[in-house]
Amino acid sequence: MTQTTRVPTDTADAAHTREWLRRFQRVRRASEALCAPLETEDYMVQSMADVSPPKWHLAHVSWFFEAFILTPYLKGYETPDPAYDFLFNSYYETHGKPFPRHLRGTISRPTVKQVYHFRAHIDREMERLLSAPPLEHLDEIIDRLEIGLHHEQQHQELLVMDIKHILSCNPLHPVYRDDIRSRLLANAEQAPTAPAPVNNEPRWHRYAAGVRQIGADYPTQSAREHDGEGFVFDSETPRHRQYVAEFELADRPVTNADFLKFIEDGGYTRTELWLSDGWHLIHQTGWQAPEYWLRVEGRWHTMSLGGLVPLDPSAPVCHVSFYEADAYARWAGARLPTEAEWETAAEDQRPTGHFVEDEVLQPQASAATQGQGPQQMFGDVWEWTGSAFLPYPGFTPLEGSLGEYNGKFMSGQMVLRGGCCATPGDHIRPSYRNFFPPQARWAVSGIRLARDV
Ligand code: AVJ
Ligand code: FE
Repeated sequence: MTQTTRVPTDTADAAHTREWLRRFQRVRRASEALCAPLETEDYMVQSMADVSPPKWHLAHVSWFFEAFILTPYLKGYETPDPAYDFLFNSYYETHGKPFPRHLRGTISRPTVKQVYHFRAHIDREMERLLSAPPLEHLDEIIDRLEIGLHHEQQHQELLVMDIKHILSCNPLHPVYRDDIRSRLLANAEQAPTAPAPVNNEPRWHRYAAGVRQIGADYPTQSAREHDGEGFVFDSETPRHRQYVAEFELADRPVTNADFLKFIEDGGYTRTELWLSDGWHLIHQTGWQAPEYWLRVEGRWHTMSLGGLVPLDPSAPVCHVSFYEADAYARWAGARLPTEAEWETAAEDQRPTGHFVEDEVLQPQASAATQGQGPQQMFGDVWEWTGSAFLPYPGFTPLEGSLGEYNGKFMSGQMVLRGGCCATPGDHIRPSYRNFFPPQARWAVSGIRLARDV
């Protein structure tokens, strides 16, 4: 039997590890806070195949720490139930057989209570591990912990998206949080008296042609030393050169008022505006407006986490698919930015939009003044780009099962940039690549226009 060497408690390593433990606890608490307004019955609904029941999210992010940290690195770790390794494995085929995604809503056991016990178990065991981590695996443990925390933050956004979809399917239009409803209704009351939403036309910012640096490199320090700064997913790497021709970018996202003009101009009926796949999709589905839009007594409303509220004309349009974003752009005589263009414009911009911490969970009109570069590049709505989610030149997925995290999804998906009102503010960065299939519209996905010069 070899003796495990523990990190001595009075060293810099131990201090860093304690900081990581506090970070872990903060992220874990945030997930539970998002679920606090739910009723037990809400936790189990899977309103469509893309949606996961909130209960499943809470269990899956816990499983991630079990599968990738506790089982390999905590001596004597015992799972509360070996079946969890199957039920809560999302898609890691090299780890074991994942449970079918579209059946997640059938898992009535473990109960919500048992899932919370599982979370508490994982929290305790992670604390046990991080209180006296084995020195020889410290780098690996902290690296995986860092990914696990960013993973849980991704699921926090998915929780918000999924809760919204779940509640929106209920004809009673349940309210997730009353304070969100009050805020959105107050906005709606102001809207008619306020000055015209932004000015009618976006302003255009011009960017010179040039060879740009796109993407990110891994931080040169190990996670154990860099203390949470500079994390990137493998799909953002490596940083590389790309030629970007001269282009212009709109100073703001497309608003609901803008998108209404497209609808009223017959946007959904004009075949020349649509990609073939999008044209077929809107006929199959009957889509004639963004997801969650509903006409009530002649006035457009939208389902929100504050229930059904009047549509705010000056807020960025959201819950459009890539096809709708693309058709809108063509109607407007513009196009979607490429991800290289978007990153070129975003690199020196400060975040001016709303994130999950702002607690509105619905995109808001920009309060920022114009003329200081494009506004709301970060926050409020994810922005569809015209770029497919493809590997950057020289991309290598992480080793082992975590190599399945992003790389294997690099087909049939489009990149979105910038984060939204459901994204944790410290989770986003200029090089961040979100991705969804072009028909998806339950994410808080919006539009920013670009055009050739
Ligand atoms: C980047 C949002 C498409 O939903 O599968 C969650 C995020 N990755 N767990 C997804 C993710 C692993 C991912 N998206
Ligand atoms: Fe996941």
